[in-house]
Amino acid sequence: MPASAVELHHVSKRYLLGEDHAPGATLRDAITGVFRHRGWRHRGERAEIWSLRDVDLTVAAGESLGIIGRNGAGKSTLLKVLTRITEPTSGVSRTRGRVGALLEVGTGFHPELTGRENVFLNGAILGMSRQQIKREYDAIVDFSGIERFLDTPVKRYSSGMYLRLAFAVAAHLQADIMVVDEILAVGDADFQRKCLGKMAEVERSGRTVLFASHNLEAIVRLCPESIWLDRGRLLARGPSEQIVDAYLASGVSRTPTSRYDDPAEPVALRSVSVLDASGRSSAVLRRAEPFTIEVCFEVARPVPGLDLSVVLSTLRDVRVLDEAWSDSTATGRGGPGRYRARLLVPPALAVGEYTVGVWLGTAFEAVLWQEGALQFRLEGDTHGRAERLVQLSLGWEVQRVPTTDSVGQRGCDWTPPDQVGA
Ligand SMILES: Nc1ncnc2c1ncn2[C@@H]1O[C@H](COP(=O)(O)OP(=O)(O)OP(=O)(O)O)[C@@H](O)[C@H]1O
Ligand SMILES: [Mg+2]
Repeated sequence: MPASAVELHHVSKRYLLGEDHAPGATLRDAITGVFRHRGWRHRGERAEIWSLRDVDLTVAAGESLGIIGRNGAGKSTLLKVLTRITEPTSGVSRTRGRVGALLEVGTGFHPELTGRENVFLNGAILGMSRQQIKREYDAIVDFSGIERFLDTPVKRYSSGMYLRLAFAVAAHLQADIMVVDEILAVGDADFQRKCLGKMAEVERSGRTVLFASHNLEAIVRLCPESIWLDRGRLLARGPSEQIVDAYLASGVSRTPTSRYDDPAEPVALRSVSVLDASGRSSAVLRRAEPFTIEVCFEVARPVPGLDLSVVLSTLRDVRVLDEAWSDSTATGRGGPGRYRARLLVPPALAVGEYTVGVWLGTAFEAVLWQEGALQFRLEGDTHGRAERLVQLSLGWEVQRVPTTDSVGQRGCDWTPPDQVGA
């Protein structure tokens, strides 16, 4: 088993509200803190908040771990505890190896020192010799793209410049553990791409990466595993794709049926439901069975050529299905009346959360588009491959070909390339 780079045992962190913010806390922390906790204090009592509660966590050396959770969940606190910017109220935090941290803009650098001096200071904190730092210096400057400002005290930097230098330092100095907190909140899209690329490189070089972010795509791309923090507690850990799905699903309540009572001008939705294989309305369905999307709508005035389509999307807005009524029925659509339309979906989609959107219109105009009409989940075995969109369980035909068999049969060409056409 590889040695662990990070170990947290029963780590809890309590803040007393009204307590001065730690030097590492940012202005944003201070401002959001005020809004989050206004009104909590009663008659001189000091309300307390547990930013972390009894967190146990082991991260193996060389592992990349994503950290997700809502605002105030404790992500930054966790990273501050393990970089020793703040002490846990109880429990033990241990790290093995040099920790290079890129926390929120506002930590890590000394404001009075210049960019150049801060690079050397950070290197020294990481235990690197001057020679070693010098060797990395050009790469840092180059990556940061702020060469002209290196002799300016960093307190005069814009937050973007600051972030560029901070990221360049964290990525190039020889830390064994790289801790990154929401780099993507600041900086332009180009620089963000550059940062993500660099992080992937750091990861490939075998260093340990801890990455807290609200950018779930980046988390999935960079970190095979993630943890999910919720109000200071470690709620789940597992493959990032699954943790992200569970996290996303927790934010929206699943409903098997949505009803509408808008006036039909000239068309209105009445209900959208998802029905399981036995016709019951349900928000959790078995992946391996067909299911039905049922749409009831009303047409008050004739809409010649009325068309209906149902769109299924993943929670990350990837359209996996867009089926139109007109694809199967050619004419005679759109007379006044009440309609019940059913679309039978075969067991083709992978395990996961889906939303249903409904579109009504004609070839010339959209009359109605109900996005996210409802959300449901397909449950089942992923066979360890949670990332696919389609799971057809197609039939295989595999034969073991006898070595004496003649070559080129049934498309399997065993002829060595130099004999082809000979
Ligand atoms: N220095 C501090 N003093 C008082 N409360 C604090 C301090 N730092 C953090 N907190 C509180 O601890 C809780 C966890 O905050 P933390 O910054 O760790 O959350 P987060 O998951 O990083 O959130 P975000 O997604 O907004 O960055 C919040 O309620 C926050 O207000
Ligand atoms: Mg944070």
